[in-house]
This record gives sequence, C-alpha cells and structure tokens, in this order.
Amino acid sequence: MRVVLGPLLLLLGLCGSGARGQDGGLGEGGEIEQKQTTTDIWAEVKELRDMVVELKVELRTMAAIVKESQSQVDELRAELIFTKVHVELLQAENAVQTTELKSLESRLNSTESRTSELERENEEKPKVAFYTALTNSGHVGPRNTDITLKFSKVFTNIGNAYNPATGFFTAPVKGVYYLQFTMSNNNVGRMGVQMYMNKQRILYNDEYKEEAGLEYLTKSVILELMAGDEIHLVLPSSYSLYDDSNNHSTFSGSLLFPL
Ligand SMILES: *[C@@H]1O[C@H](CO)[C@@H](O)[C@H](O)[C@H]1NC(C)=O
Repeated sequence: MRVVLGPLLLLLGLCGSGARGQDGGLGEGGEIEQKQTTTDIWAEVKELRDMVVELKVELRTMAAIVKESQSQVDELRAELIFTKVHVELLQAENAVQTTELKSLESRLNSTESRTSELERENEEKPKVAFYTALTNSGHVGPRNTDITLKFSKVFTNIGNAYNPATGFFTAPVKGVYYLQFTMSNNNVGRMGVQMYMNKQRILYNDEYKEEAGLEYLTKSVILELMAGDEIHLVLPSSYSLYDDSNNHSTFSGSLLFPL
C-alpha cells in the first residue's frame, strides 16, 4: 500500500505546482514549459497506471498465494486434529490392553502355581496296586483249622502294601480301596473264603460243590480304610481251594483315591 501511495502523493504535488504557474501569469515561454510539463505529467500518470495495474496483478497473485496457504494451513490443522484424536484413541486402546495383559499375567501366575501344586500333589499321591495268585502246587486244604491264605505269586505290588510272607494287605494311607478275589476249586465239597478287616470278619462266601471240575467264586469290595488297616483272606476249616500255574485263585486290589 505504501508503494502505491508514494507515487500518488508525488502526482498531487505536481498538479499543485502547475496551478500555481497559471496563477503567476506566465508569458509564452511559460506556456511551452507548461505544455512540456503536462506531457511529462501524463507520461508519469501512464507510468503510474501501469504500475498500479502491475501491483494489482501482483496483489491478486499474492492474495491467491495467501488463500492457498490458508487452505493448506486449514488442511494441516485438520490433519493435526485427526492425528491428535488418533493418538488419544491409541493411548486409550493401549491402556485397555495393558490392563488386559496384567489380568492375563496374574491369571497365568495363579494357573502356574496351581499346576505345580497339582504336580506336587500327584507326585505325593501314594500309588498302591497289587495282583497275586495263590500257588502253583494244587490244592490248599481241607484242614481242621482256619488258614490265612498267603498268595505267594506276586505279579504286581506297587507300593509294597501286600506282604506275601503274611498274606496281609496293609493300607498305607487313609483312602478308598478296591479289592477283589477269585477262588477256585475242583474238589467235591465245600469251597469258600472269608475276608477280614483287621480282626473283624467282613465277608464269608461259600458254596457246596456236588461234582468234580473247576468252579470259581469271585467278589469285589470297595472299602474305606484308615492308614494301617489290614485286609486278609481266610480259608475256613474243612474247605479247600485250588491253584496251579494257570492262576485260578487270585487276590488283587488298588487305592482308588486317598481321603
Ligand atoms: C500267571 O500270571 C502271570 C502274571 O500275569 C503270567 O506271567 C503267567 O503267564 C500266568 N500263567 C498262565 C498259565 O497264564
């Protein structure tokens, strides 16, 4: 604007000096001079007009540039706002994920400790299982007294809870036990067996065989035993059983689970 004002003021100044000339009542020489001056002024005015046009064009260009810059600024501002929102969103997401991660971590920790607890429990859990057969030497009995049966062929004895020297099974821990026996006989007469828990008889199974030939008598029990409880089988007096290498008469058991 200052650039435009400068020449305009100059123009006004020149016009003022021309008027003064007229008032002064100049002679002929003065008229020529005045004409000359007028021509100069017009030339200058034309120059000024050109300058103004040029400035106008320049101004327009600058205005366009400013407008363009403004729109770029607006665009950048919009982008910035978008980016800010995006960053905030990501931060929120990150916070949520961090919380989730922490809860997963604590769950993993408790699972790990539970797993090692279970592993320890499993390792410490007593393992008890036995399977035996009576004898390879044929008939046991009949005698005139009860006989404690000693199953001498020990095939399985995990935990050594069965003692072939006494014929007793001793529960190593309090728990639920599965016990099973099968008795065989091929004589005519009485066959059967009694089961004792400690000193108490808990079972007396028998039958009378009228014909020769192998017969079997089998029974399963599930007992809740205290640690140290003993189980054994007794052949009543006048009864007989049979076994040989074919494993006819057997006694077996296992710990189902401790209590
Ligand atoms: C008797 O049982 C034992 C142990 O399971 C086995 O090795 C043996 O072969 C059995 N006898 C017969 C005749 O099957």
